[in-house]
Amino acid sequence: MENFHTILDNPEKDERLKLIAEEIKKCRKCALWETKMNYVPGEGSGYSGIVFVGEAPGREEDIQGRPFVGNAGKLLTELIEEKLGLQRSQVFITNVLKCRPPNNRDPLPEEIEACKPYLLKQLEILKPSTIVCLGRHSASLLFDHFGLNFPGITRVRGRPFEVAVEWGKVRLIAVYHPAAALYRPQLKEVLEKDFSKLGEFVMVKENKENKKSRGIRTKNKTLKDFFSEL
Ligand code: URA
Repeated sequence: MENFHTILDNPEKDERLKLIAEEIKKCRKCALWETKMNYVPGEGSGYSGIVFVGEAPGREEDIQGRPFVGNAGKLLTELIEEKLGLQRSQVFITNVLKCRPPNNRDPLPEEIEACKPYLLKQLEILKPSTIVCLGRHSASLLFDHFGLNFPGITRVRGRPFEVAVEWGKVRLIAVYHPAAALYRPQLKEVLEKDFSKLGEFVMVKENKENKKSRGIRTKNKTLKDFFSEL
């Protein structure tokens, strides 16, 4: 796995994200600061316009202070590279909670409420075109925040929902959590299918760009183009 913390597409965004990370590292808004080893604000870049939002740091993330660096993180990184054709450093990865809950228990409603402003600030800075919710906690919070009905992850997964936001439009997509997929082969298959669907546009973009470099005129597709065709 690549060793990086934050590589951004825009120095001003980078600076603002660093300030939020500093703020997070002083947070005592819920009791989790007392039991955590390290705060895990998130890392990556706004390069691709895609933000991944997981649930909360696990043991390995708590030790390293970086999101998705354990087994679930290995799977997520593989999916980003193989199905989206992107490097991990080209997306932004964060969590609903920035501190590990003891023994990886589910986040409590008051912890989610206390931590939510940090995630919203990160999104406001990154202004993504696509937010991928990894698992039900992330999906429930973000669907609710953007005024969408959330009948459960199984009902909404794999389908993009477009919402109007301050910076334009964002596509919200929920997928199964990579950790759940590690233990259930059927879920892994579905997760791979959902990532393949998401990845098709990146491939379309690359193929067109290859043709272009061989002198064949073609339209240069963007992530937005892909989603508008779904
Ligand atoms: N699971 C998550 O939801 N987030 C992480 O960072 C790691 C595992």
